[in-house]
Formats: sequence, C-alpha cells, structure tokens
Amino acid sequence: MNKTVFITGASSGIGRAAAQLFLQQGWNVAATMRTPDKEKVLTGANLKLLQLDVTDSNSIEAAIREAIVHFGQIDVLINNAGYGSVGIFEAFTPEQIHRQFDTNVFGLMNVTAQMLPHFRKNKRGTIINVASIGGKVTFPLYSLYHSSKWAVEGFSESLHYELRNLGIKVKIVEPGVIKTDFYSRSQDMINDENLEEYQHYLKTVFNNTQSSGTNGESPEVVAKAIYKAATDGSKKLRYPVGSPANWLLPLRKLLPESWFFAIVRSNVEKGL
Ligand SMILES: NC(=O)c1ccc[n+]([C@@H]2O[C@H](COP(=O)([O-])OP(=O)(O)OC[C@H]3O[C@@H](n4cnc5c(N)ncnc54)[C@H](OP(=O)(O)O)[C@@H]3O)[C@@H](O)[C@H]2O)c1
Repeated sequence: MNKTVFITGASSGIGRAAAQLFLQQGWNVAATMRTPDKEKVLTGANLKLLQLDVTDSNSIEAAIREAIVHFGQIDVLINNAGYGSVGIFEAFTPEQIHRQFDTNVFGLMNVTAQMLPHFRKNKRGTIINVASIGGKVTFPLYSLYHSSKWAVEGFSESLHYELRNLGIKVKIVEPGVIKTDFYSRSQDMINDENLEEYQHYLKTVFNNTQSSGTNGESPEVVAKAIYKAATDGSKKLRYPVGSPANWLLPLRKLLPESWFFAIVRSNVEKGL
C-alpha cells in the first residue's frame, strides 16, 4: 500500500513543492489548503485536495477524517502552513500578534493534537514541523515571527521525547532563505510612520533583508529535505536546509554571542 502524507499550506511555496515531490515518489498526498477551489497546479491520481485553515479547528478535524477515509491511513504529517510578520514591534496591533501565533504556533499544535490519536492507534507516524533558521537565530524586525518559530522549536524538541516510545517520530526542518511568497503576498508588513524614531532603521533593515529574500534558494530544496526527514529511517531531529542555514547555525553555536550579533548587524544594518 502507498504511504500517505498530509500537508498543511500546500497551495504555494514549500508546501506545494513538497506535495509535488511526494506525488512524484508515488505517495498518496492529502494536500490541504485554505482555498482548494483555486488550486490549478497540483494534479495526480494519488492527490486529494482538502480544505484546511490551521486557525479553524473544525476544518482540521474534517480534513484529517476525510484523508483517512480516502487513503485508509496517514503516515506522515507535514506542518508547513505559516507566514512572517515583519516590522517594529510597537506598531503591531494585538490582533496581528495573535494571528501570528494562532497560525504558526497554535495552528501547528492543533493539527498535531488532532493527528496524534491516529498515529497512536497505528503505533507509528512521523510529524515534520517546518520551523526556520529563524527558530534558532534572530534578525531585527522579525520579533513576532522569530518568537513563533522559537516556540515551534521548543515544542517539537520536547514532544519528540514523549512520542519516541510510542513509535511516533518528530522532525524539525529548518529552511534558510527560500524564494517563495513568504516575502511578498504572505508577509504581514507593518509600520506606523508616527513612530518617527524607528523610520530610518526600519527602511534600512527592511531593504537589506527583503533583498536577500529575492535571492533565496528554491522551495524544491526544502521539499527534498522534508522528503529525507520522512524517509531516512533515522531518529535525527533537525534538518537545516538552504543557505544560510548551513553556515549560520554552526556559527551561532561556535561564536560568543556578542561576536555573532556583530556579524548579524554588519549584514542586516548595512547603510545605517
Ligand atoms: N520562505 C522562506 O524563506 C522560509 C524560511 C524558513 C521557514 N519558512 C516557513 O516555511 C513555511 C512555508 O512558507 P513558504 O516560504 O512556502 O511561504 P508561502 O509560499 O507564503 O506559503 C505559505 C503557505 O501557508 C499557508 N497558510 C498561511 N496561513 C494559513 C492558515 N491559517 N491555514 C492554512 N494555511 C495557511 C498559505 O496559504 P494561502 O495560499 O491560503 O495563503 C501558503 O500555502 C512557513 O511555515 C514559513 O514560516 C519559510
């Protein structure tokens, strides 16, 4: 029997690339997204498009149930849906702060919680959480996004202990800078021009970080790392992928904090 993967946020970027790769590899793919009616790219006999908004508990429950009915069982969950809020912290409204965590953290936890009874019953399953290098290091103006991804890292690392003896694996994929809609339509960019003291800093740093987004690696690179995490049979927890994950994360471990911060500042605060 083909194995089945269940993916959140499969309408674009990394989620879509992962759906395509698993389909090519002969897997059944439950590709979930907020608006499956609009999907034009993903096709295949082993594909099931399902509506799922990670902030809507009923849609999570319905999509998992439908995927199990359709394919018989689910082997791998990819918690991929997410977006980045960027801007000065003082300018964010409470609603924007909550939406960042409702999506990237509580949404991911809710999908995981609703999938676990199925994995527990089967005595196996793999949960792959798409975190970020931004869950291990930080850059300015991304305080909300980083705190959400640091939460995903902590949640996943702790969870892997308690699920290990049940035959359920937890994996964390940590992409670097990847060229997707993350830096355009998905981004929640905020500014308040009345907060004059921040304006020069905001514009300078935003331009530096935004330009790195346009030079990012392709989402297919991350899809390959996700596929490896799903299939390599190892108990390995973390899969950093894509520049600058390969050199920035080791550097963070090696250098004293003050040196590391100076390197970040010399890059992202260039032109201040
Ligand atoms: N691109 C990068 O540089 C990068 C780096 C590290 C980590 N990541 C992480 O990778 C993941 C995928 O991002 P991406 O780069 O592929 O960006 P993307 O192209 O913008 O894709 C984001 C996906 O998340 C979905 N989504 C957002 N809110 C949702 C919700 N409430 N319910 C269900 N789906 C929702 C989007 O759906 P809609 O189409 O409906 O908007 C879209 O399918 C995210 O978790 C992101 O934080 C990205």
